[in-house]
Amino acid sequence: RPGWPGIIKAYPSRIPVPEGAEIVTLGEGNTPLLPAPHLSELTGCDVYLKVEGANPTGSFKDRGMTVAITHAKASGLKAVICASTGNTSASASAYAARAGLTTAVLVPQGKIALGKMAQAVLHGARILQIDGNFDDCLELARKTAADYPVTLVNSVNPVRLVGQKSAAWEICDVLGGAPDVHCLPVGNAGNITAYWAGYTEYAADRVVDTVPRMFGFQASGAAPLVSGEPVADPETVATAIRVGSPASWEPAVKARTASGGLFEAVTDERILDAYRLLARREGVFVEPASATSVAGLLLTAADGRLPRSSTVVCTVTGHGLKDPATALEGNVEVEPLTVDPRAVASALDLS
Ligand code: F0G
Repeated sequence: RPGWPGIIKAYPSRIPVPEGAEIVTLGEGNTPLLPAPHLSELTGCDVYLKVEGANPTGSFKDRGMTVAITHAKASGLKAVICASTGNTSASASAYAARAGLTTAVLVPQGKIALGKMAQAVLHGARILQIDGNFDDCLELARKTAADYPVTLVNSVNPVRLVGQKSAAWEICDVLGGAPDVHCLPVGNAGNITAYWAGYTEYAADRVVDTVPRMFGFQASGAAPLVSGEPVADPETVATAIRVGSPASWEPAVKARTASGGLFEAVTDERILDAYRLLARREGVFVEPASATSVAGLLLTAADGRLPRSSTVVCTVTGHGLKDPATALEGNVEVEPLTVDPRAVASALDLS
């Protein structure tokens, strides 16, 4: 087979699809597990980044979407629907386009990053903006899918999470075992649920001997799993995880408890600090929500909850190009310096 075949064909015994189904793939998965030397030095741990922005549509959602769209196509229904803070809608639009299905996406008005909107537009999705938040969008998407012949491809569709387990398997396959701690940003809580299921499945099958402690991090303005209460008006610069009432609340709490892990909140300021640090010191450009795992890593390393010398994987969930506006806002000298072509070296102080 030419190269990586996508996660369904890479893990055929672990990701069942309907008999005879046409597999809808864009070659997702097999993303880099990148050593992070600067973060390792700062924390005294062995830190790796699972760079999910390297997936075909620039986020981890593709792992679940290849499975969801493969099932949707096999079902014979012609349309899919999802609610999204942007990445699910980008992924659904791309995979549905590939499968010849139509897509409707429900997004919170004015609260999805520019790149994600561009993706849904160009892949031909019907985009419906709601004057409300992600939680309102999800409720509407669920109702619509219950009443009409359209497949819901949010992570409440269980096959999505089966695909997302593949990231945990890849990490174990590369490391030759599970890490000690796994740090994740948490929004609707599907991904932390899927990782935990993936790790425990590998342990049950004796592929690995141990499972990691799951550290889930939320933005402080949208941290229902930390407070234990739904948040009516979630707010954060990390729009991808601007979720007040996570659909996978219970399984995420189970993952935290069973693994001896934790949920913690990090401020937008710390998220943006980690966002800039990843870009400047590790060379990895992620979207703000993705930096939440690293902000949490630094917080728990500093307060001692993350034991030194641990092997830690931080998933960075989406590509920085998804959200160019946040990259330019207040972070850099936006106006490039105009120079005489003969004066480049002197402008850079190179001589
Ligand atoms: N990071 C990014 C970049 C995301 O887009 C999301 C979720 C998460 C983290 C959190 O993952 O919801 O499984 O806990 N984005 C969803 C969306 C809500 O609509 O694209 P989770």
